[in-house]
Amino acid sequence: MQVKFGNSMSDFVYLNGKYPPAIEAQVSILDRGFMFGDGVYEVIPVYSGKAFALEEHLERLQQSLDAVEIKNPFALADWQGIIQHLIEINTGAQDAAIYLQITRGVMEKRDHVYSREMTPTVLVMCRPVEFPSQDKNTRGVKAITQEDNRWGDCHIKSINLLPNVLLKQYAVDQKAAESILIRNGYVIEGSVSNLFIVKNDTIRTPPKGRNMLGGITRDLIIKICAKNKIVAQEKLISEDDLHDADEVWLTSSTKEIVPVTTLNQHKVGGGVPGPKWHQLIDLYQAYKQSVMRG
Ligand code: PDD
Repeated sequence: MQVKFGNSMSDFVYLNGKYPPAIEAQVSILDRGFMFGDGVYEVIPVYSGKAFALEEHLERLQQSLDAVEIKNPFALADWQGIIQHLIEINTGAQDAAIYLQITRGVMEKRDHVYSREMTPTVLVMCRPVEFPSQDKNTRGVKAITQEDNRWGDCHIKSINLLPNVLLKQYAVDQKAAESILIRNGYVIEGSVSNLFIVKNDTIRTPPKGRNMLGGITRDLIIKICAKNKIVAQEKLISEDDLHDADEVWLTSSTKEIVPVTTLNQHKVGGGVPGPKWHQLIDLYQAYKQSVMRG
């Protein structure tokens, strides 16, 4: 029986060596992911049935795994094979996102202390995504600022996302799309995104460090800027810089580059997406096309 892609119950997933429909895929209650949020993840965009920036995502996965002492169960080629197969068996998966989660595995008893010999639990899902259309994006979104109350190791893409969940939910409850997080007077990132500002035609994003997730989209934008001789600084952004910016953007694998047109109660720039955003989104789309063709 062929099932249309997009039914979250019947789409196929990868779980520990098998490809069951999601509804049949089961994990033990003794899994440390369930008990402690002890695991890491990745979200990889799929355009026209092809995973985008896959090697970059798998490299970041390796960094997250190393940081929490979980052994990578697969080599690069194995990951590529699993992901390609999953896209193929989910007939119709064209615009989608791969969700990949590795937990430390199943333990015998609940204990904070872990063994380094555990067999990790590996889950990969392929879910439909509606990437933002040019039209939707040109309306821009509202964002609010909030204190960053997360832990000190935000460079790890941990499945332990409760602070991010609460920060994002708070934004949505305020009729905003995202919370922009401030730590010690400096802008770090969004609850589910990285951040760029533009001031006097200069693009700026905070430097990478332990307090933020080094986004693949962020890195790509910096690369695209360099290739096109557009200045993009990796430099601290104070809360004042943010409020004084001509443009503010949020970036992530599933939302790409989103212009913020309202920040708290105020318009950003003229209250419409600015010229630099228009330039970068065109360059980003062109880069995507060239990579997917090649
Ligand atoms: N998250 N910062 C945080 C806290 C994020 O959760 C994300 C994306 C990013 C952007 O990273 P990237 O460009 O590699 O997607 C930055 C994903 C999409 C998620 O959790 O669903």
